[in-house]
Amino acid sequence: MAQEDVFKKVVAHCKEYGFVFPSSDIYDGLGAVYDYGQMGVELKNNIKNYWWQSMVLLHDNIVGIDSAIFMHPTIWKASGHVDAFNDPLIDNRDSKKRYRADVLIEEQIAKYEDKMEKEVAKAAKRFGESFNRELFMQTNPKVLAEKAKRDALQERFAKALNEMNLDELRQIIIDEEIVCPISGTRNWTEVRQFNLMFSTEMGSTADGAMKVYLRPETAQGIFVNYLNVQKTGRMRIPFGIAQIGKAFRNEIVARQFIFRMREFEQMEMQFFVRPGSELEWFNKWKETRLAWHKALGFGDEAYRFHDHEKLAHYANAATDIEFRMPFGFKEVEGIHSRTNFDLSQHEKFSGKNIKYFDPETNESYVPYVIETSIGVDRMFLSVMCASYCEEKLENGESRVVLRLPAALAPVKLAVLPLVKKDGLPEKAREIMNQLKFSFNCYYEEKDSIGKRYRRMDAIGTPYCVTIDHQTLEDGMVTLRERDTMEQRRVAISDLEGIIRDNVTITSVLKKLS
Ligand code: GAP
Repeated sequence: MAQEDVFKKVVAHCKEYGFVFPSSDIYDGLGAVYDYGQMGVELKNNIKNYWWQSMVLLHDNIVGIDSAIFMHPTIWKASGHVDAFNDPLIDNRDSKKRYRADVLIEEQIAKYEDKMEKEVAKAAKRFGESFNRELFMQTNPKVLAEKAKRDALQERFAKALNEMNLDELRQIIIDEEIVCPISGTRNWTEVRQFNLMFSTEMGSTADGAMKVYLRPETAQGIFVNYLNVQKTGRMRIPFGIAQIGKAFRNEIVARQFIFRMREFEQMEMQFFVRPGSELEWFNKWKETRLAWHKALGFGDEAYRFHDHEKLAHYANAATDIEFRMPFGFKEVEGIHSRTNFDLSQHEKFSGKNIKYFDPETNESYVPYVIETSIGVDRMFLSVMCASYCEEKLENGESRVVLRLPAALAPVKLAVLPLVKKDGLPEKAREIMNQLKFSFNCYYEEKDSIGKRYRRMDAIGTPYCVTIDHQTLEDGMVTLRERDTMEQRRVAISDLEGIIRDNVTITSVLKKLS
């Protein structure tokens, strides 16, 4: 199946099975805002639990907080968001559509990469087993020509971004002959900067209302609380503070479903370290975070690091963990060595001393910070895309199955009486009542057993049990596994033990330690 088709199907599947709905659906939606449905919220909570527990449970030097969305407006001045949290925008005069200039150029870079990949795919098909990808990439003239174009563009683009040269960004769009996808023309305006923060007013106008912002990242709530937590928790460096919460950005190019949203959720952890040790910690966190992703079992080749060449002025190292989405490798998580920039800025703007006294060195200093920052919604999307699967079965039928890691699945066990009579529903309810304290169970008696299995496959339920007439006599049920579709008879008393070990977050966390 073509990758664009996979993506369309995932979006449709999310709506059909109660994972994600457009916000304000009956009013035709609200751009780049989405609601999570009855299945989606369970999956999302499981992702958040997996992250939270991997941080707070597995590290005795990491604690969590939950800071408010509204914060003192000076925080955003200090952090640089008021002055510099901008996107470069360009309009097409014919379609009247607005685009991010950097995204248009990134898409052009991706086009060169696609062309290279197409050449490789053609050759791999032609040469079969004997194909040497690396050699082909180094010698094939067509690949080399596309690579030269890509490299030249990348270099020019990085320079323009580093210098924030808006005229040069526009010139690149003109020179690369990039057209508006709607009008097909190259009738572009100048490039302008646009601040991404939403603002509102706090207090009534009569009292003199204060302009406040909806936080564009959760990190600042951690920075301004770092000393509160350090002192009350008697934390010693190195230590970390983790937080999960909503963030808001007035994204102009809001596309690709929940990939780029205006209201989204972040899971961020700031790790405070001694100055000079930050690059060592940066590398440790890169590996730790990649291992977290890989433990979900989607295959190592689904991930790659993208080290930043262009660093923010306060960072001394930065990388993204990218995931292979149906629309290419895309950033899911950022890992940044942010030096002591944010804390020093807050010290300056608040006028408060927020230095840490290090009892080991007898020195006071502003700690350096390694940040790991992952979007819950992007993680959700990557999990859905990697799990969605259409399968042809031996009997000629087909099924849609979500091969979710069992620990993330919204429902762990479906309890299905074979028929709606003869005491089978009562027996099924009895089993539900026993197991519902251990994991999420779902009861269903409507439709044929085959149809019910299909519905459970489509929401990624790893196990189903069927209760039949024999069950009433011998206390055994049929346990069916989602991926293999294998069925076996097991005793009701063994069910909890068999299932629990495979469906808990702990089962994945154990792979990390
Ligand atoms: N505190 C650092 C920070 O916010 P970022 O790279 O801007 O860094 C971190 O964002 C992560 O948040 C991204 O890797 C992505 O997963 C998620 N994210 C950012 N903007 C988003 C958006 N508009 N919609 C959904 N997720 C977003």
